[in-house]
Amino acid sequence: MKTIFSGIQPSGVITLGNYVGAIKQFIELQHDYECYFCVVDQHAITVPQDPAQLRKNIRGLAALYVAAGLDRQKATLFIQSEVPAHAQASWMLQCISYIGELERMTQFKDKSIGKEAVSAGLLTYPPLMAGDILLYEADLVPVGEDQKQHLELTRDLAERFNRRYKEIFTIPDIRIPKVGARIMSLQEPTKKMSKSDSNQKAFITLLDTPKQIEKKIKSSVTDSEGIIKFDIENKPGVSNLLSIYSILGGKTIEELEAQYEGKGYGEFKGDLAKVVVDALSPIQERYYELVESKELDDILDEGAEKANVQASKMVRKMENAMGLGRKK
Ligand code: AQP
Repeated sequence: MKTIFSGIQPSGVITLGNYVGAIKQFIELQHDYECYFCVVDQHAITVPQDPAQLRKNIRGLAALYVAAGLDRQKATLFIQSEVPAHAQASWMLQCISYIGELERMTQFKDKSIGKEAVSAGLLTYPPLMAGDILLYEADLVPVGEDQKQHLELTRDLAERFNRRYKEIFTIPDIRIPKVGARIMSLQEPTKKMSKSDSNQKAFITLLDTPKQIEKKIKSSVTDSEGIIKFDIENKPGVSNLLSIYSILGGKTIEELEAQYEGKGYGEFKGDLAKVVVDALSPIQERYYELVESKELDDILDEGAEKANVQASKMVRKMENAMGLGRKK
């Protein structure tokens, strides 16, 4: 069986973008692959976080993975900081990364723009992510399109390590969903939807109430043309709403264009809000049962134990290949 690794940062309550670009894919893939899914809390601290809120988000994200359908019999769910091998691997991979290639990462540029002080961790985020993936000998990494560049760097680092030291790493392939790989902001539809966007109206979280969802969709930015047609170039707002509708409503874009021919944005947005509410309400119901439960702790304890076994084995291989410490 091939192996999958993927992670999500607990940097806020996850959005529809994270759900469609990541979690929804994970749930589909868990039946056919050995899966490791991770709450990457060490990635979250590359930008400032309130400690109490971070703790809450970590637990909340783990609960959402399970509420969305992650099956503990099929997939391993764990928290990154509970598996020390991630930080150890990251250091070794930082030492074979070049500052130039890290500075070229779009996420680093986007997140450091206009900031007076930028943490070194924001720059070295990609080698930490590479470690996450390579420790589990992942064959495939399901992510949204925004992570493509980091995945390419992961492949480069793995190849560099294999060439320079010893052939120990599997070179992972990226898997991007055909529709929904990039859900856009509801307020600036040329920018991706992000959970840490300062404009709350720009994103829908998995825990938004029906009222909030309806309000956010109704106030989403479209255009003045009044035609419901998929055209990313000229109609990014409407196209984004069509993508969300198609994925969560189970209809093709063509079917939706035909269904809404001659109809206005008001009706389209109202129906879309219902589709989103219907898709999220069973997830929310399960989430509230789980979030403070012992069941969630059991899943995370079991996950950390299993991940620690695999990851520490790989760290030993890395240390041996690089000549660190005494031979183990
Ligand atoms: N807008 C998006 N559309 C589709 N997929 C997306 N992903 C993120 N945004 C979208 C995918 O979600 C997974 C988890 O991402 P992450 O939390 O590790 O980091 P991110 O990509 O930086 O996500 P955010 O929401 O933008 O977080 P912040 O605001 O903290 O930076 C990844 O697979 C990602 O591709």
